[in-house]
Amino acid sequence: MAKQIQIAIDGPAGAGKSTIAKIVAEKLNFTYIDTGAMYRAVTHKAMQLGIQLDDSEALEKMLHATKIELEPSINGQLVYVDGVNVSEVIRSNEVTANVSQVAAHANIREVLVAMQQQLAADGAVVMDGRDIATHVLTNAELKVFMSASVEERARRRYLDNERRGIQSSIERLQEEIALRDKLDSEREASPLIQAADAVYLDTTNLTIDEAAEAILKLAYDVM
Ligand code: CDP
Ligand code: CDP
Repeated sequence: MAKQIQIAIDGPAGAGKSTIAKIVAEKLNFTYIDTGAMYRAVTHKAMQLGIQLDDSEALEKMLHATKIELEPSINGQLVYVDGVNVSEVIRSNEVTANVSQVAAHANIREVLVAMQQQLAADGAVVMDGRDIATHVLTNAELKVFMSASVEERARRRYLDNERRGIQSSIERLQEEIALRDKLDSEREASPLIQAADAVYLDTTNLTIDEAAEAILKLAYDVM
């Protein structure tokens, strides 16, 4: 029987992490865990309550009084906050614009990382985010750092928006992505960085299937 391993996938926005992680998880019959959704869920609730996003104490107090649940589904992963399905609303432009500020607070990360480690405790998971290989699952059997040129990542997000009926401009998206990359990479608490033992995968010129195949091949090698 195949080994129940942990697969950690990190990288910047639009690299293809969630799309490819989902496919890999499906093929291996593993659970897919999208950690970005947890930071988005916290950001969404804080914005709804009018909590200042630079107030780490207020955010932590709110988080301790919040129930975040992740539920695997055929479309990936559903997210519930206090029993309400927020899977769609946490993808709004407003949440996207604010999430990196919330994710920079070390106390918030500590709580969410503990939840993520518990979710992955039994193995057989594909988890994506920014600090999975470096902080959350440091013993993961397979670590992948996925990236693509910022132009290609903005193009992908533009097409995503078009499919969802949201108007946007590629130039604007490129600026937003570059700013989020900068905030995520330069923060003090668990910045986005490639782990020393992670495999680098550039998806700029890869199709989704090619990228998924590359990761599956690496996974079979360690299973
Ligand atoms: O899907 P997209 O790449 O736009 O972002 P995401 O994975 O939903 O993550 C949203 C934001 O959450 C990131 O820009 C980071 O600021 C933060 N995040 C993080 O700090 N650590 C993680 N493990 C996952 C996400
Ligand atoms: O999770 P992350 O932000 O890294 O990226 P994603 O949301 O999985 O991918 C962003 C978009 O790029 C999705 O619409 C994917 O279908 C698309 N994509 C692609 O066209 N080619 C790839 N090799 C990877 C992703």
